[in-house]
Amino acid sequence: MGLNGENLCTDVLLTGKLPIISRHMLRVSKNLLINFGTSFPVLLAPMAGITDMPFRKLVARFGAGLVVSEMIASKDMVLGRLGSREKAKLAYGIEHSAVQLAGRETHWMAEAARMAEANGAKLIDINMGCPAKKVVSGYSGSALLKDLDHALDLIDAVVNAVKVPVSLKTRLGWDDRLHNASDLARRAEDSGIAMITIHGRTRCQFYKGKVNWAAISKVKKAVNIPVVANGDIVDFTTAKEALRQSRGDGIMVGRGACGKPWLLAEISKKFKDMTANNVPDNSEFCRIVAEHYEDILQFYGKDLGLRLARKHLGWYMNVCHTPLELRQTILRAESPAKVLASLPIAFERWNSE
Ligand SMILES: Cc1cc2nc3c(=O)[nH]c(=O)nc-3n(C[C@H](O)[C@H](O)[C@H](O)COP(=O)(O)O)c2cc1C
Repeated sequence: MGLNGENLCTDVLLTGKLPIISRHMLRVSKNLLINFGTSFPVLLAPMAGITDMPFRKLVARFGAGLVVSEMIASKDMVLGRLGSREKAKLAYGIEHSAVQLAGRETHWMAEAARMAEANGAKLIDINMGCPAKKVVSGYSGSALLKDLDHALDLIDAVVNAVKVPVSLKTRLGWDDRLHNASDLARRAEDSGIAMITIHGRTRCQFYKGKVNWAAISKVKKAVNIPVVANGDIVDFTTAKEALRQSRGDGIMVGRGACGKPWLLAEISKKFKDMTANNVPDNSEFCRIVAEHYEDILQFYGKDLGLRLARKHLGWYMNVCHTPLELRQTILRAESPAKVLASLPIAFERWNSE
């Protein structure tokens, strides 16, 4: 693959019943054609409490291969438990939106997948990577790496429940002794999984230690479906290196996009043209944050919205090196009008170079 960006085509496609991969196309099952609309597939990672609808909408507006919802517990979604259906809500007009489901029981996973598809999800992603104790102790997320037979039952249930493509997100394995992502990937491909994302760490590493992009290349060798590399990609340099080492077909960015919703589009464009610049200037930055803030308040209502917006404001202010005192004033403010009025000063140190 041309990693200097010269050879990458503008449109990357997900399509076709039989997975066929060319250098510049991602083709996945079930006759769905998704034109990523960017020069190289850079996907937004699902992040609980972060990649909610307002954030996905913002990232998608800049341009992203795919934006994936926060993980949604399948049973909670089907039973309509508080907040779960909101997590799966798609912004009108988001073409490249995936809903990620987690769970241990085939019945709930299949039902939740049907609901997400009915609501317009263009892809269903299955979570087999979450390392959290609460999830793993319920035998879902990365715990499924210890029980591939059951993992495959879940995959079959979801793939057979929907017409849209189904992808899988997992890790290299459970721990250093059980690096079995390739086995899972091979079997998942046979069951109709359309694309696999690998976070280059094991479950027992959680988010610590160095990410192992090179180990993702073993998964890539094992299957014919697209493999997406994930973990510690924060800019074009790390994106290029992750791609070189993993030999992946695309990359997925999570934490690096916090406070920088344009990052995915920026990376994607740089693969095509190193001189491309997608970074907003000061006034645009203020406008983006103000719109994001108002969208959060509208989506969650003022009380919850004020609280949830703080982490995003914090990331925006990290990026802009906002002085501590002003930062604290903004994060403690109870009045949206006061927050909005403070943004131009908070972001005056922003340098888009
Ligand atoms: C706060 C947080 C929440 C996350 N939630 C999810 C999730 O809901 N589903 C999932 O598959 N991965 C989740 N992840 C893992 C990310 O999708 C991603 O694999 C990981 O952060 C590594 O990528 P990054 O270094 O680009 O952030 C989460 C990570 C973080 C930091």
